[in-house]
Amino acid sequence: MNLNITVIPGDGIGPEISRVGVKVTEAVCRRFNHEVHFTFALAGAAAIEAAGDPFPEETFRACCEADAVLFSAIGDPKYDNDPKATVRPEQGLLAMRRRLGLFANIRPVQTFDCLIDKSPLKRELVEGADFICIRELTGGMYFGEKYEDNERAFDTNDYTRGEIERILKVAFDYAMKRRRHLTVVDKANVLASSRLWRRIAQEMAPDYPEVTTDFMYVDNAAMRMIQEPRFFDVMVTENTFGDILTDEGSVISGSMGLLPSASIGEKTPVFEPIHGSWPQARGLDIANPLAQILSVAMMFEYFGLKDEGKLVREAVDASLDACVRTPEIQAEGGPRYGTEAVGTWIADYIDKH
Ligand code: IPM
Ligand code: MG
Repeated sequence: MNLNITVIPGDGIGPEISRVGVKVTEAVCRRFNHEVHFTFALAGAAAIEAAGDPFPEETFRACCEADAVLFSAIGDPKYDNDPKATVRPEQGLLAMRRRLGLFANIRPVQTFDCLIDKSPLKRELVEGADFICIRELTGGMYFGEKYEDNERAFDTNDYTRGEIERILKVAFDYAMKRRRHLTVVDKANVLASSRLWRRIAQEMAPDYPEVTTDFMYVDNAAMRMIQEPRFFDVMVTENTFGDILTDEGSVISGSMGLLPSASIGEKTPVFEPIHGSWPQARGLDIANPLAQILSVAMMFEYFGLKDEGKLVREAVDASLDACVRTPEIQAEGGPRYGTEAVGTWIADYIDKH
């Protein structure tokens, strides 16, 4: 296969983990004889500094022309602490989602046996947890009408039938491929937008008779996720709820540095870790590259290249078993590996297997 990949390293630890993502992609392509070509593009604070725009036209074009985008992270505290800032790095991420029509964000939450004790939750609760959160990514409060002055501000949680139907379809299809259990997470006891979600899900459920569909209020889902994570198979929810619940989900795995994601929609799909730019760790070679590497696995799987994805996952498991781990998941007294060394180990494993 001939792959054209646009790489957006972004800010903070982004460039470090991005280098690892590229290295692992190259190793897979070498191993399976795929032709790969990378184009590098700017977004976030890096793009504000270089071009005054967090998602420049040139980056948009590079995304549109690629088969996939490998994205790392954006964000910079310089902008967080300045409420008067008129452009922010995060606007680059939102612009990318909107302009590429990336309405479905697939965030798998899985556990790794050898890391169970890294989760602050009890072993018997998290063992075997394995679910996918499907987060709507281009609607809701993130993109609805907004207003802000010194006395009043609002965001509108706007959803249309079309937007809800297309994300629910993705969710039902995922449920069919998995354990056939779909949980629709909403706040239908309070929010009109949630009632529309629920009504449409109820209309669509009979088309998927093999899927057990249940409904859960988001506050209850937040509790259930850590009380009984094994309950979930596929969860689908709106943009804001999905943002919050997936950070919570990372606690189940034991580290935010483990969770990858895929964003798919109308144009080029984007593969990115769910963690942010972690500016404090920038340049320290301590960031965990596994979420980025697992995003690479998701990218190959998206192209239908199952063996490629499988080998990447196998290499990740092997690195964990061999205690080739970044500090936050290292076993007590285990060796010290940096971001780059973990990446090199995994790329070597792929070369040899
Ligand atoms: C995420 C992030 C983003 C979001 C931020 C950086 C805008 O938290 O991808 O979950 O809120 O969607
Ligand atoms: Mg988030």
